[in-house]
Amino acid sequence: MEKYTIAVIDGDGIGPEVVSATLKVLTAVGKKFGHKFSFKHVLMGGCAIDATGVPLPKKTVSACKRSNAVLLGAVGGPKWDKLPGHLRPEAGLLGIRAALGLYANIRPAVLYPSLAAACPLRPDIAEKGIDLIVVRELTGGMYFGKRGLKEGKFGAEAWDTEKYNVMEIQRICKIGFETARARRKKLTSIDKANVLESSRLWRKTVHEMAADYPDVVLEDMLVDNAAMQLVKNPAQFDVIVTSNMFGDILSDEASMVTGSIGLLASSSLGEKNPGLFEPIHGSAPDIAGQDKANPIATILSAAMLLLSLKLDKEANAVENAVKAVLSETAYRTGDIASTGHTVVGCVKMGNLIQERIKI
Ligand SMILES: NC(=O)c1ccc[n+]([C@@H]2O[C@H](COP(=O)([O-])OP(=O)(O)OC[C@H]3O[C@@H](n4cnc5c(N)ncnc54)[C@H](O)[C@@H]3O)[C@@H](O)[C@H]2O)c1
Repeated sequence: MEKYTIAVIDGDGIGPEVVSATLKVLTAVGKKFGHKFSFKHVLMGGCAIDATGVPLPKKTVSACKRSNAVLLGAVGGPKWDKLPGHLRPEAGLLGIRAALGLYANIRPAVLYPSLAAACPLRPDIAEKGIDLIVVRELTGGMYFGKRGLKEGKFGAEAWDTEKYNVMEIQRICKIGFETARARRKKLTSIDKANVLESSRLWRKTVHEMAADYPDVVLEDMLVDNAAMQLVKNPAQFDVIVTSNMFGDILSDEASMVTGSIGLLASSSLGEKNPGLFEPIHGSAPDIAGQDKANPIATILSAAMLLLSLKLDKEANAVENAVKAVLSETAYRTGDIASTGHTVVGCVKMGNLIQERIKI
């Protein structure tokens, strides 16, 4: 029996709810395929602040480093919003990405035929299909650049710096090219090169790399146009590669055109440490504690986790279980329900998927 240790960061808000549903699914996978998944629960975010005074305790970082993979729910919430930036729950998130060197965030966005009714786009646009991957740079750019706040001539002034070097651009664009090469061979590099110097370096670098990938069609798109094109014609996209902030914003948009933010999974990968797998949504304080959260994004993140452990059959079983529940039953969480559906909570949706794994 193969043994795997998964560091589990339940987090805040709906984090513990979606994680609990996902751990049941992973346990069912273990039983079916003969693996032992040991879950090591660790603190990060608001719950870590409450228990230890800091959003990312050292113990959490070392437990994550010792694991085979990290599963994260979500962190944050209004309770901690007034704390200074470096002590907020989100500092834990940035901290763990930096500590594990997770520079590549992979966010697939797929519109399942069974969820066509949840897609807010016109049917003629949705019918063309949505099947894209956002490759987002995760440890550079404005979220990690120099920032400040001081009193100025006209009152308080604040700044954040967008900064990228060639190495950071090359390593993320390499993942973009390689991901596109394994798919429909189209890479859209999204920047703001008409205004930003950092984007001009990004564009120059990605074009210099294109010679190594003659089978991949590379196109540039300005981020404002990309925001529009994702709504106008999302079928045109195969793989998108972009900076930390642009990727953060555009992947939320990509999630909504596929039905709900509660559906989108992600993996964050580096070179030396285990990967981190998390839904792209936040802690959703508005629905926390009400059994209303959609666990599918976290469950599909667990499928990505299994892939990272080279457990391809097991990952397929999870994806197929999600697809089967959506296509063969009328059960939906509230965020993806429409006429004729039976609304279920996070627990029930998790159980339905888990039961499918056993079949
Ligand atoms: N990776 C993370 O941990 C992460 C990511 C984004 C935001 N946050 C934090 O989460 C908190 C709330 O942020 P927000 O409200 O801007 O974003 P959010 O993603 O938490 O919620 C946005 C909207 O989507 C809904 N939603 C989110 N996930 C859902 C799910 N699984 N099922 C059904 N509906 C879902 C919420 O109810 C809300 O209406 C903030 O503190 C923010 O900093 C954390």
